[in-house]
Amino acid sequence: MELDLSPRELLTTTRTVRKRLDLERPVERDIVEECLQLAFQAPNGSDQQTWGWVLVDDPDTRAQMAAIYMAALKDYMNRPRTKPAGARPPQTPKQERMTASVMHLMEHLHEVPVLLVPTFHGRCETGSLFDQASRWGSIAPGVWSFMLALRLHGLGSAWTTLHLHREREMGELLGIPETETQAGLFPVAYTIGTDFKPADRTDSMARVHWNRWS
Ligand SMILES: Cc1cc2nc3c(=O)[nH]c(=O)nc-3n(C[C@H](O)[C@H](O)[C@H](O)COP(=O)(O)O)c2cc1C
Repeated sequence: MELDLSPRELLTTTRTVRKRLDLERPVERDIVEECLQLAFQAPNGSDQQTWGWVLVDDPDTRAQMAAIYMAALKDYMNRPRTKPAGARPPQTPKQERMTASVMHLMEHLHEVPVLLVPTFHGRCETGSLFDQASRWGSIAPGVWSFMLALRLHGLGSAWTTLHLHREREMGELLGIPETETQAGLFPVAYTIGTDFKPADRTDSMARVHWNRWS
């Protein structure tokens, strides 16, 4: 059953869900596929639909995916930095909360009922800006529509990219050919409660430019 949300509520309350993913409640394949049908309505370059949607509900595979995600997150945390830890500003309380939430997801990823890896055809790391924009722009609207559709059905997700530090490892596990680019990894679960608040993005007004960059 769909939640009774106005378009404004849907757009303002589809949040990143990590701690409120219900790890106990199974997710029916039908619901996920219904949400994908909505995602398929999203725009994509020349309507080529070169996307791929790898959905995993097998517990062993999810556990292996979670292990790759954890290793990739550790790669990211241990990356070489220009400034030593002591020279970096301390995290704000908001950043601390987000870090705790990211860690929570990492620790529980194997328990999330369904994991999604969306892909697009081809590689564009060394391509022109046009090529990169066209390829990424052909998957991002679909993924976001999927997240909106999940919210409408009482489910939630989080856009994650950390595993891409180990993209090939994930590709080998899931049989994704090297010709396809993985766009991220999306946990899919019912949410614990369905009441979510809009984010505070007021700072963004300072990034608005009318007529000319100023
Ligand atoms: C491109 C992109 C990459 C992200 N990567 C991760 C990630 O790897 N892990 C994670 O836990 N969250 C990730 N996030 C979620 C953001 O941290 C999240 O959107 C942000 O904290 C704001 O939360 P909100 O979307 O609920 O407003 C990512 C979001 C985007 C759009």
